[in-house]
Amino acid sequence: KTSIEGSVTWKAPSNIALVKYWGKKPVQLPANTSISFTLDACATTTTLYYKPLEKRSKEFEFKVMFEGERKKSFEPKIKKFFENVDGYFLFLKEYEFTIETSNSFPHSSGIASSASGMSALSLCLMSMEKELQPDMTDDFFRRKASFIARLGSGSACRSIEGPMMLWGENEDIKGSTPEYAINYPHKLDDVFKTFQDTILLVDKGEKEVSSTVGHDLMHYHPFAKKRFKQAEKNIAALKSILKKGDLKGFIRLVESEALTLHAMMMTSLPYFILMKPNTLSIINKIWEFRAATKLHLCFTLDAGANVHLLYPENEKEQVLEFIKSELVQYCENQHYICDQVGKGAVKL
Ligand code: PMV
Repeated sequence: KTSIEGSVTWKAPSNIALVKYWGKKPVQLPANTSISFTLDACATTTTLYYKPLEKRSKEFEFKVMFEGERKKSFEPKIKKFFENVDGYFLFLKEYEFTIETSNSFPHSSGIASSASGMSALSLCLMSMEKELQPDMTDDFFRRKASFIARLGSGSACRSIEGPMMLWGENEDIKGSTPEYAINYPHKLDDVFKTFQDTILLVDKGEKEVSSTVGHDLMHYHPFAKKRFKQAEKNIAALKSILKKGDLKGFIRLVESEALTLHAMMMTSLPYFILMKPNTLSIINKIWEFRAATKLHLCFTLDAGANVHLLYPENEKEQVLEFIKSELVQYCENQHYICDQVGKGAVKL
C-alpha cells in the first residue's frame, strides 16, 4: 500500500523499575541495564488518526488532544519525538495526524505518563507502518516499537510487553541490547507474575528536577562508574532471586536500588533531593511492619517522592489493612492507587 487513512488505538501501561536506569549515553542509550515490572492499571490510551496530505510537508502536521481538549503544551514534546524518529518512518511528513490521548490515572498525581504515553504512541505508529508493510513479523513489530518508544523517553521502551522487561546490554543475558527492551528471558517464579504495586501519592506536584537533568548529572558524577557496575551485578543477582522466588533477596536488592537512585541525586553536583519527609516516614513504617509481621512488603521509588509498595498477592489483605490504618496519613489527600504486574500493551 502507498497511502492509508484511518485510526488506530493502543493502550500501554506504565512500568516500575526494580534495577534503575539513571544515566545515559547518546542517543538515549542507557548507561546501565535496567529491569522493570510492567504495570496494569496505570496506563495511557492513545488513538492516532492519520490522513494523507496532498503532498509531502516540510513540517510535521499534527495536533494533540488530551482527555477531550486540544493540548498545545504537549505539542513541543511530540514534535521533538517526531524529529527523533523521522529517520525510522518514511511516512511521517506525508500525513496529517491527530493524537488523542488519555491516562487512567489522575493528571497531576506525580505519576509520570511519559513511559505509557510514548509507548502507546510508538505502537500506533508501528500499526500504521504494518498497514503499509503487511509482511512485517510480530517480533520485528515489538522490537521496533520498543526502539521507537526509547527515543521518546528511555524507560518507555520497557512498557511494550510484560510481566517483566529488561533493557540494556548485560553479559549474562542473551539477546539483551541497549537499543530496545526485551521480555525478561529467564525463569520467573509464579509469585512475581502476580506481584502487587500500590502507589502512595506523597506529592502530586511537578517535580523540581526533571529526569532529563538527573540523567545528565551522571556524566560528571563521582560515583557513576561504580554505580553502573553495581547495576549490572544486581541484574545478574536477580536471576536466581527471580527463579527461586527468593523474596528476602528480592526485598534487599529492590530497596537498595531505590535508595541508591536517590543517593545518586543527593551526591551529584548540583545535588538535589526528591524525597519528601513523608517518603521517609513511609519507609520507616514499612520496615517496622516487616519486622513485626514477617510479611514481604517492600518499597521502591522512581524519580519523585511517591512510594511504590511491592508485595506478593497472597499478602494483599494484610498489606491493604496496614496501608489504610497506617500509611494513608502520609499521602496527599489520602490518595493511593492499587496496581499490579501486567501483561503489556494492547491494541484496542
Ligand atoms: O525514562 P526517563 O528518562 O523518565 O527516566 C526514568 C528513570 C527512573 O524512573 C528513575 C528509573 C527507571 O529505570 O525507570
